[in-house]
Amino acid sequence: MGKRGSWASRLGFYLVAIGSACGLGNLWRFPYVVGENGGGAFVLLYVLLVLLLGIPLLVGELMLGKSTGKSILTALGSLSYKGKPIFRVLGRISVLLCLLVLSYYTVISGWVLHFAIQFFISALGVHQASELSTLNILLRNGILQAGLASVHLLFCIVVVLKGVQEGLERFIGWTVPVFGVLVVLLVAKSLSLASAPNAVRFLLYPDFSKLALSSLGQAVGQVLFTLSLGFGTMVTFGSYMTHEHIPTASFRVATIDTIISLVAGLLIFPIALQASNTPLSDSGILFEVLPKFLLEMPGGVIFGFGFFLCLYLASLGASIGLLEVIVSNFVDRSRVDRGRATWLAGFVTLVLAFIPALSGMLMQRLKLGQRGVLESVDSLIINWILPLIALGLCFAITAGMQQKVKEDLFVNMEKVESEVLFSHWQWTLKWFIPSVISLGLFLQVVHAIKLFLEINSH
Ligand code: PFF
Repeated sequence: MGKRGSWASRLGFYLVAIGSACGLGNLWRFPYVVGENGGGAFVLLYVLLVLLLGIPLLVGELMLGKSTGKSILTALGSLSYKGKPIFRVLGRISVLLCLLVLSYYTVISGWVLHFAIQFFISALGVHQASELSTLNILLRNGILQAGLASVHLLFCIVVVLKGVQEGLERFIGWTVPVFGVLVVLLVAKSLSLASAPNAVRFLLYPDFSKLALSSLGQAVGQVLFTLSLGFGTMVTFGSYMTHEHIPTASFRVATIDTIISLVAGLLIFPIALQASNTPLSDSGILFEVLPKFLLEMPGGVIFGFGFFLCLYLASLGASIGLLEVIVSNFVDRSRVDRGRATWLAGFVTLVLAFIPALSGMLMQRLKLGQRGVLESVDSLIINWILPLIALGLCFAITAGMQQKVKEDLFVNMEKVESEVLFSHWQWTLKWFIPSVISLGLFLQVVHAIKLFLEINSH
């Protein structure tokens, strides 16, 4: 294999794209954002946005990668508007964002690993299940968090070092199916709880009065994050693509990712409701309520191990995707080989990850509004910066890519409808998505001002 790689099979692309898309965003973030925004109406908004914003943008990112055969930095660098290469800076911001997100994603993945190990040890009977340490204890122990983050990052480095076919495709090739089987088993168990009907109602019954001004922006951010859009991940994966029809592939990846998010809701909400007094909007649902609840349930230790193993596999797949983007951009832009680029990217990420990991108690106590620091950074990146990048990407794909290139990649002679869809896709990217994102951002600003005035008037 040369400096760059390609997928060994069509399935390889799907597994890695889905492996990158399905992660903490689906199992940790989606349930609490849905809770924060009142349930069913937000879910409906989210699903509509997956179809009308997520899939078209995914098509655009994959096209950008496939047509240039490069990662986002070089791919955007090769586009121009009125003869000027103005998109390069967008690529730089994307890669920087990958680094930032990977650094806190690594810390949260470390928490997941911690609970998976704890449940495993309890299942073996080495210590009493009731001795399982809580999130609070973990948050106070910065060294433990840094250690767990380092182990997690080391796993990612080992896989990325092996390259596209040997590493990514082979590893994610077995984690994705295992993950799928475990999730189905867990949902079956969760839906057998007495609280299940209420939880399902909360998730699926749209009560529009519960939507807040910021809900649109949050839904946009969640769609972008969960489909790994705006980070350049899908551009990189597109660059390894050979003969896949991009719109079909995008539709499949987005559908599976959405199903996983909904299933995560079905899994978490019955448990959270059963544990009653915890608000469904709490980002700690997963790490505080769930372990406690599981311990009180017969067979809960095994169930807990299964759940956290599942979550860990998902976050590993997503972290590998993030690291791969940083590495592939590095390899494309420099003379550094894949091995060195991977170690270097891993090292920089680890240094950044130490900041949230080691600040332990401080981070836990410090609140910005109602949110903790980690959630505030997460919200800043996902609800504000990511939509801005997506706006830039829409413009880059619409105005920077050649019409002929886009048409060739979109229109498939065997799929007659693809010709009609092509013009819709262009329109969506040019007008619809920028309008929705701008409206979402505007409403978030109004919401923030309202909150600020309310806090100051008390
Ligand atoms: N889509 C992932 C999730 O939902 O958890 C997050 C993510 C992974 C974003 C990989 C970007 C990326 F490159």
